[in-house]
Amino acid sequence: MEKQNLYSITALFDTPDEIIRAVETVQKEGYTKYDVNTPYPVHGMDTKMKLPPSKLGYFALALGLSGAAGALFFMWWSLSKDYPLVIGGKPFFALPAFIPVTFEVTVLMASVGTVLTMLLLYFRLPNLSHPLHDTDYMRSVSNDKFGISIEAEDSLFDSERVNKLFERLGAKKIGEVCFDEEEINKKPKIFDGKFIIFLIFTAIIISGASYFTFNKLLYMSPYNWMMEQEKITPQSHSKFFSDGFGMRNPVPGTVARGSMPYLFKGLPDLAGQKLVNPLIPDEKILAIGKKKFDTYCSPCHGYFAKGDARLNGQFPNPPSLHSDKVRNWSDGRIFAVMTEGQNIMPSYAQQLTPDERWEVILYVRALQRAVNAKEDDLK
Ligand code: HEC
Repeated sequence: MEKQNLYSITALFDTPDEIIRAVETVQKEGYTKYDVNTPYPVHGMDTKMKLPPSKLGYFALALGLSGAAGALFFMWWSLSKDYPLVIGGKPFFALPAFIPVTFEVTVLMASVGTVLTMLLLYFRLPNLSHPLHDTDYMRSVSNDKFGISIEAEDSLFDSERVNKLFERLGAKKIGEVCFDEEEINKKPKIFDGKFIIFLIFTAIIISGASYFTFNKLLYMSPYNWMMEQEKITPQSHSKFFSDGFGMRNPVPGTVARGSMPYLFKGLPDLAGQKLVNPLIPDEKILAIGKKKFDTYCSPCHGYFAKGDARLNGQFPNPPSLHSDKVRNWSDGRIFAVMTEGQNIMPSYAQQLTPDERWEVILYVRALQRAVNAKEDDLK
């Protein structure tokens, strides 16, 4: 492998100050095709080299904007055109809800796209070789030296002049970098037949191994120990019980935590004898009672329990709750009506907790006393 073509003449310096001075001079001499390689970024190098600002930012902007537009377009198309669905009562094109996704896609497109642009446009992927690669010069500048390389393609390039310039600048080491035309024009290694076959084999082995692991191995003993357990799961069949169902009904008489069974089903008079209002009226309890009565009872019974419904005859008007009958009923008897309903009046056990029912009763008592006050109420 003969290296015939001169690529550049390189010079190595020991300190950042020296390389900055060298760049200033090279710039003054009028060279344009040169590059600087340092072990770490040297401050002020860009301005000394008179590098224009990178255009990468424009790519990032364009990619980010297309990410935002793409995400919004896709959500508009899928959620308002192709398959409109009402989600949480929002409009089909619910912009505030789409912002997080739009933001994420914008950032993703801008970052991944910028890296890819850099690799493809700036590093010329899939080309992987560069004349400077694998040279002593590169080894030095990626360790502790600061190097400059003036390319032979520069219109002002002249071996002797460049050598003299570097000597004048006090370069520690001056060298030539050559390249082999054939080597450079060779197809990149990733399109090599053997490499492609190797890739295909790797893909087959890895996908086969993953398929076997996730679809077979994990279902074999002993890896299935979490999956197959000695217990009955919901909806499953069970040979243990005579009816064959895995799920069981609660044992008769079971009482759910925090709930009190109603023991007087169909026995309102007994409820009237046995049940006692556990609450003592105060301002707070009466306020709750009024609120619940106004909400649940007043549509039929009227705000003052006089039986003046607001339903305009759509439902038979109930009797007044100021009757002697109801006034002489115990709280427990009224509780029975509210819990079970009476004739066409439905049960209010679903809408009102037992405590709320007792609170409503205390409020009804207050209404009754307001209409039929006793002698001592007036004192
Ligand atoms: C949908 C209309 C409606 C609502 C709402 C309603 N009731 Fe009734 N209520 C009736 C009717 C109608 C009757 C008479 C039932 C009958 O024919 O025995 C009645 C009867 C009663 C009685 C027995 C009266 C009597 O003289 O026999 C009481 C007590 C009572 N309601 C209390 C309530 C309470 C307290 C509420 C609120 C939780 C309520 N009702 C909600 C329609 C309603």
